[in-house]
Amino acid sequence: MDKTITLNTGARMPLLGLGTFKMNAEGEAEAAIASAALMGYRLFDTASSFRNEEATGRGIASCGVPREELFITTKIWNNAQRIGNIESAFERSLDRLGLDYVDLYLIQWPVPGCYLDTWHVFEDLYRSGRVKAIGVSNFNEFELDDLMMHADVIPAVNQIEYHPLFREDGIRRICQQNGIVVQAYAPLARGAYMGRDVLRVIAEKYHRSTAQVGLRWILQKGCAVIPKSSHDERLLENSQIFDFELEPMEMEAIDQLNENYRCASIPEDLQT
Ligand SMILES: NC(=O)c1ccc[n+]([C@@H]2O[C@H](COP(=O)([O-])OP(=O)(O)OC[C@H]3O[C@@H](n4cnc5c(N)ncnc54)[C@H](OP(=O)(O)O)[C@@H]3O)[C@@H](O)[C@H]2O)c1
Repeated sequence: MDKTITLNTGARMPLLGLGTFKMNAEGEAEAAIASAALMGYRLFDTASSFRNEEATGRGIASCGVPREELFITTKIWNNAQRIGNIESAFERSLDRLGLDYVDLYLIQWPVPGCYLDTWHVFEDLYRSGRVKAIGVSNFNEFELDDLMMHADVIPAVNQIEYHPLFREDGIRRICQQNGIVVQAYAPLARGAYMGRDVLRVIAEKYHRSTAQVGLRWILQKGCAVIPKSSHDERLLENSQIFDFELEPMEMEAIDQLNENYRCASIPEDLQT
């Protein structure tokens, strides 16, 4: 299986990346990025809201992989989605990361009344070359449709929560029909499906872990994954998902686990 997917910009994006949410302890992000880079990870996902862009930047700078071989994603937070603030929020992210461009810049949440204006500034950033691709996160069918109707540049990626316990196939299909790559966040459901019998039985058959089977199921849905771990043995485990294949019946059995269990909370300022 190819380990990259082509974005609508023509760029190749690794199907596997390292999530960095909650990597806030001293030296944690730097150590995880160093280990992950040695194991072959090339995509690192951060956000201004994670409060670890500086540490991520230090990790990137010291991991020994040339910048052009890495794929770095960051995101704009909700309160910066105001005309006059968007470009400066991007500049601050670049400064914190110590980079002169990012590979992917995402609107982390669709702030009502703001996301279209934010997108138009993102389009300018994309045209300037300091952002190689632009995308969204947590957009549902309605918001994505609205954006596409008003956009000059179609998002390259929609990063959404997606795992065996939370399978929103409506938005996944719309993205895929429109050439938008779905990147699954919380792909391990933060550990919530590790003990499920269906996954355990399949994992035993392939001599894999339940985490590997869950991540593989997501890949076979045509999505990219960004599992987070700060432990070397799990980083390695989570990366070994390209050399086995689930059968259609196994995919269907895992489909049945969906229980609309969302582990990421919706930010307070977006709750109505
Ligand atoms: N766009 C958004 O709004 C948004 C929201 C949330 C997250 N994200 C991104 O998506 C990334 C992944 O999501 P996430 O961090 O929320 O959740 P996740 O990747 O589903 O789960 C991470 C948790 O699972 C544990 N873990 C890692 N590998 C494991 C394994 N093989 N077996 C058992 N447990 C394992 C980790 O512990 P250890 O670290 O102790 O190993 C950590 O507690 C984030 O880091 C972030 O980059 C984006």
